[in-house]
Amino acid sequence: MTIRIAVIGAGLMGADHARIVAEEMPGARLQVVCDRDAARARSVAEALGAADVASDPEAVIARADVDAVVVASPDPTHAPLSLACIRAGRRVLCEKPLSQAPAECLEVMAAEQAAGARFVMVGFMRRFDPALAAMRAALAEGRIGRALVMHNLHRNVETPAADFTGAMAITNSAPHEFDAARHVLGTDYAAISAWQARRSDDRVAPVVMVLETTDGQIVTVEVNNNAAYGYDVRAELVGETGGIATNHLAHTRTDAGRAACLPYDADWRPRYAEAYRRQMRAFLRFAATGAFPEAAASAWDGYAAAVAAEAGARALAEGRRVPVEMIALPELYA
Ligand SMILES: NC(=O)c1ccc[n+]([C@@H]2O[C@H](COP(=O)([O-])OP(=O)(O)OC[C@H]3O[C@@H](n4cnc5c(N)ncnc54)[C@H](O)[C@@H]3O)[C@@H](O)[C@H]2O)c1
Repeated sequence: MTIRIAVIGAGLMGADHARIVAEEMPGARLQVVCDRDAARARSVAEALGAADVASDPEAVIARADVDAVVVASPDPTHAPLSLACIRAGRRVLCEKPLSQAPAECLEVMAAEQAAGARFVMVGFMRRFDPALAAMRAALAEGRIGRALVMHNLHRNVETPAADFTGAMAITNSAPHEFDAARHVLGTDYAAISAWQARRSDDRVAPVVMVLETTDGQIVTVEVNNNAAYGYDVRAELVGETGGIATNHLAHTRTDAGRAACLPYDADWRPRYAEAYRRQMRAFLRFAATGAFPEAAASAWDGYAAAVAAEAGARALAEGRRVPVEMIALPELYA
């Protein structure tokens, strides 16, 4: 069976998802590339041999020749388009965050519960990163004892927009860490505190957060959107009898001038190439069978990240520790 995929949003992420579907997934077909910018949709569709192009996402979701949808348009479109997919009975791989507003995530969950099934997989692709999966397995297998602390660094070369703020570092960038640590530790958050350093120019400075889990672990997160030197994500898990850290990934090391030099990527796509592929394979299985993939992030996980992000933005704005308060876990997500 070939799964016909519509990709909505043909920017950096959408074009990459479309390429993975078209070139790396034998069981899938790139059916429609949809972007509000028709020229962009056409250029991605032509480059990848998509069957059709479109500019109205709601109409695309309702098409009879589309089996499943990838949403990679900007953050505010994620919840409304996920709701449209649920209404149309289409499984959707929705880029993170599901929404920056927990209330919108609750709407998506309510729609899934009313439909009696899960339709939404949230694109927290780090869950499919072999390094993070190995960290989670080491903990589950008891190789480092009970988890105590998880440290996370998330550094980008520069901010995507000139008006990027510390709050946006928490609501747009840090949800990856909120989800990854929650996934590895298997716990929820109890509270979050946040601080921001001061730079010598007007660029957004690093934000540092400390989260306390409901099981008494500590999670630290540094998000530096203007690190300049390269894209760099690291995690280290400290347990009672050992620890495990993700390694920097590079294909080469240059030895010259009495120094060993490892290159950094310009953005996240090379570092997480395998995670994006594994995530898409899991999504296609989900679309084909309706069985939610074990490692994937559900709408509930999207909600959990949004609650942590909202509390984090408040912690930064108000300069205080803010409780992370979630509703009880609905049965559909247990
Ligand atoms: N998982 C990850 O690693 C990761 C990395 C970067 C970005 N993201 C997320 O992916 C999403 C897209 O990010 P990006 O960097 O590709 O952005 P982008 O600006 O490069 O692309 C967004 C595209 O969506 C189009 N668009 C806007 N509104 C639309 C609408 N209503 N319907 C159809 N198309 C619409 C725009 O014209 C643009 O082509 C964001 O939500 C972002 O948070 C995820």
